[in-house]
Amino acid sequence: MRSVKASIVGSALWGSACASLYPGQSSVNHTCQLQTPYLSCSPQAYPNVTDSCCTETYGGLVLATQFWSTYTGLESQGQVLPKDTWTIHGLWPDFCDGGYTQYCDLSRQYDPVPVPNTTDGKTTGTIVPPYTGPSIGTFLEPFGKFDLLAYMNKYWVNQGAPNGDFWGHEFSKHATCFSTFDLPCYGPKYKEHSEVIDFFETTVAYHEILPTWGWLAAASIHPSNSTSYSLTQFQTALKSGFGAMPYIGCAGPRYNETEAGRGTMDNGRTVLSEAWYYYHVYGRVQGRQGLPVDASINGGGVSNCAKAEGVVRYPLRTVGSEV
Ligand SMILES: *[C@@H]1O[C@H](CO)[C@@H](O)[C@H](O)[C@H]1NC(C)=O
Ligand SMILES: *[C@@H]1O[C@H](CO)[C@@H](O)[C@H](O)[C@H]1NC(C)=O
Ligand SMILES: *[C@@H]1O[C@H](CO)[C@@H](O)[C@H](O)[C@H]1NC(C)=O
Ligand SMILES: *[C@@H]1O[C@H](CO)[C@@H](O)[C@H](O)[C@H]1NC(C)=O
Ligand SMILES: *[C@@H]1O[C@H](CO)[C@@H](O)[C@H](O)[C@H]1NC(C)=O
Repeated sequence: MRSVKASIVGSALWGSACASLYPGQSSVNHTCQLQTPYLSCSPQAYPNVTDSCCTETYGGLVLATQFWSTYTGLESQGQVLPKDTWTIHGLWPDFCDGGYTQYCDLSRQYDPVPVPNTTDGKTTGTIVPPYTGPSIGTFLEPFGKFDLLAYMNKYWVNQGAPNGDFWGHEFSKHATCFSTFDLPCYGPKYKEHSEVIDFFETTVAYHEILPTWGWLAAASIHPSNSTSYSLTQFQTALKSGFGAMPYIGCAGPRYNETEAGRGTMDNGRTVLSEAWYYYHVYGRVQGRQGLPVDASINGGGVSNCAKAEGVVRYPLRTVGSEV
């Protein structure tokens, strides 16, 4: 299947043969050097106004997302968590209004366990077939990107399954819905999987400038199994570091289902687990010129954590899970 795909790049059949975001788009002349890098979600960021390969016109609200987890489940195979660092979840192209779509190009389906298993999450949607080929991690080898692979194995860590499964999930579910990672953008000399490498490099670049652990530590907020924190403490520290309010996600029990919170109306969760940083981006997402925006930009909530004072845990990693 992959060789068929490579052979039709640049041909007139492209639009009909592949689920490109903009069917029929030519694979030539996406000269981003000559294009103004418009801000995504601005009035210029539409495919009828500018080249969708040079400004993000599809999923213009870009989320760089990170996890705080305490174990991987595959420690015995050397899959461990990096000390003093949150790990990468992904880089997501939400629509400007906050909605999103997923699995936008099934010809680039490298996710062994698609979730959801249809493109729209409904039983009537198009089925996303599980991928059974070699791990997406192997795609980096012909490009000699072993340092990138090492970074990903260290900082883009899966739970309960190999890291490559997770990378394939993130690429196929999300990256295929960015206009600037669309295949025609790569031109007639496209080398198979170039955009996969590009997506991984871009995702890693955003992780490098979002030191969640360090921003919290600078506010004297450290992982602890004896102290708990208030959501507002995390919010103040991360907003100060990032320049806008991120979405802060929690897992674990709901506060009003715990002993301490029983009888209250606070049903927020009580274990810190995610941070989502929202951006509008100038030009190509690959250009890394993000403008931080508040997670509330579309009127949504900025956390699902408990709001009561001092009830959110930021747990230490399990002994042996962290290196
Ligand atoms: C691409 O650009 C070249 C040089 O400007 C031009 O000759 C050619 O017609 C263009 N092709 C398309 C499909 O626009
Ligand atoms: C481009 O498309 C958008 C959305 O479909 C529309 O609102 C806008 O008026 C169009 N702009 C031009 C210049 O045609
Ligand atoms: C898709 O997932 C749903 C629940 O997540 C499950 O009930 C259904 O059987 C799955 N369908 C296929 C085709 O695997
Ligand atoms: C927890 O809070 C929610 C929302 O405020 C409320 O609807 C629910 O009844 C509460 N649950 C308990 C067990 O008190
Ligand atoms: C801290 O608590 C978490 C569970 O919340 C547990 O998985 C972990 O092992 C604990 N770490 C240490 C060092 O005790």
